[in-house]
Amino acid sequence: MRYLTIALTKGRLANKTLELFERIGVDASGALDKNTRKLVFTNEELGLRFFLAKGPDVPTYVYYGAADIGIVGRDTIIEENKKLYEVLDLGYGKCRMCVCGPASARKYLENGDTIRVATKYPNIAKDYFLGRKHQTVEIIKMNGSIELAPIVGLSEVIVDIVETGSTLRENGLEVLEEVCPLSARMVVNQVSMKMENERIADLIRRLKNELAKGI
Ligand code: PRP
Repeated sequence: MRYLTIALTKGRLANKTLELFERIGVDASGALDKNTRKLVFTNEELGLRFFLAKGPDVPTYVYYGAADIGIVGRDTIIEENKKLYEVLDLGYGKCRMCVCGPASARKYLENGDTIRVATKYPNIAKDYFLGRKHQTVEIIKMNGSIELAPIVGLSEVIVDIVETGSTLRENGLEVLEEVCPLSARMVVNQVSMKMENERIADLIRRLKNELAKGI
């Protein structure tokens, strides 16, 4: 039997995903084992392989078929914009993509001013401002701690993920506009979906049944 390879997003999502797999009787715990530098965990009995990757790399592994399946946030799926099948909303990792800034920046959005927007998600920011709002802005791609940008004067607003809102509150910022809701999704390589349809469909069905019981 050919291995089915599953790419997991490193960090918060990975823990939740492994818990979920555990509940349907799939042991993938070795993928999170901190005592080893081994990168790929194989479950020989079920013919599954798991590995952890940085969020934006998960759609890349799946698109090229190096992984059959990926578990990744919807934010990353939209930003990377690869041809993949999005087959399941896993319901966890719930948060929102938002335009945020100090309350004083609200007027720039209302007036449609040519402001600067700092973000880890330049494609999402571009689609939102240029595509949906028809507001010309300058997008500045950053790599983390985006909330810093309006505080130190790099940009007027940011486009970023808001989960609890505590990072914003602690930094005197607020949600100004909501772009879209987010959560963890399962994506599948388009060729794998045909070649391994039975096994993948069975996995999706079992995950769906488990999710229906509630988290
Ligand atoms: C994310 C996001 C916000 C924060 C939101 O950052 O970019 O900074 O979480 O969460 P909250 O609403 O619960 O405060 P992450 O921790 O992933 O790190 P990063 O700043 O390096 O992107």
